[in-house]
Amino acid sequence: MPELVIAPSVLSMDYTKMLEQIKALEASKAKWIHYDVMDGHFVPNLSFGPDILKQFKKSTDLFLDVHLMVSDPTYFSKVFINAGADLIVFHTEALDNDLSSISKLIEDIHQQGIQAGFSVKPNTPIEPFLPLLKEVDIVLIMSVEPGYGGQSFMPETLEKVRTLSAYRQEHGLNYRIEIDGGINDQTAKEAKAAGVDTLVAGSYVFKNDIEKAVDSLC
Ligand code: DX5
Ligand code: ZN
Repeated sequence: MPELVIAPSVLSMDYTKMLEQIKALEASKAKWIHYDVMDGHFVPNLSFGPDILKQFKKSTDLFLDVHLMVSDPTYFSKVFINAGADLIVFHTEALDNDLSSISKLIEDIHQQGIQAGFSVKPNTPIEPFLPLLKEVDIVLIMSVEPGYGGQSFMPETLEKVRTLSAYRQEHGLNYRIEIDGGINDQTAKEAKAAGVDTLVAGSYVFKNDIEKAVDSLC
C-alpha cells in the first residue's frame, strides 16, 4: 500500500490569504495540493482555469493533483499539463464510461510525462473499470456528488474502496486509492480503514488551523 498522502483541496482556501495559506500547507504534513477544475457543464459550478495553476506552480513545490470535473477532459488535460499539473485525474462519466477512450486518455497523459488516473461519481460502479487498473497511478472515489465543497460524506462509497484495495493486493498493483468529499478527522479514519491512502480535504483543512487539521488526518 502506498504511503499516506493528504491532499488539501484549495477550492476551500481563503483567497484573500493565498500565499499565507500555501506557506501553512508547506509547513504542514500535506505533500499535495488538490486543484479542482469545474467547467459549469460537467458539474454546475465553475472554479479555476490554468492561469491560477501556473501561480501555484510558481509559489510552491507541493505536488499538484489536478481533478478535472469537465466534459472535455481530452482537451483540458493538455491545458493543465502545460500549466504545471503533476497528476491529472478525469471522470469516466465524461467519456461515457467507455473503456477504450479512458485507456487512450491515460496513455496520452502518460506520454506527456506526468501521472494519470480516473475518478467515478458516487453512483458510478467501479467494477467495469477493473481491467484498467494496471494502467493508472491513482483512482479517485468521489464520496460526495462533485461540484461543491462542504458536503456530507457518503459512507456507502467505501464499498468501492474495499473492492479497489482487494484488487490491488490480489494483482500486486500499486495504484493509489484517493477519496474526495466530506473528509474530516472521523471520516478519514473510516476511509483509511477501508484502504484509502490519499485523502482530499477542503473545508475541514481550510476552516480550521491548517497544520493541526492536516495532522489530525494522518
Ligand atoms: C468537490 C471537489 C472536492 C472538494 C472537497 O466536487 O472535488 O475536492 O473541494 O471539499 P470538502 O472536503 O469540503 O468536501
Ligand atoms: Zn476534487
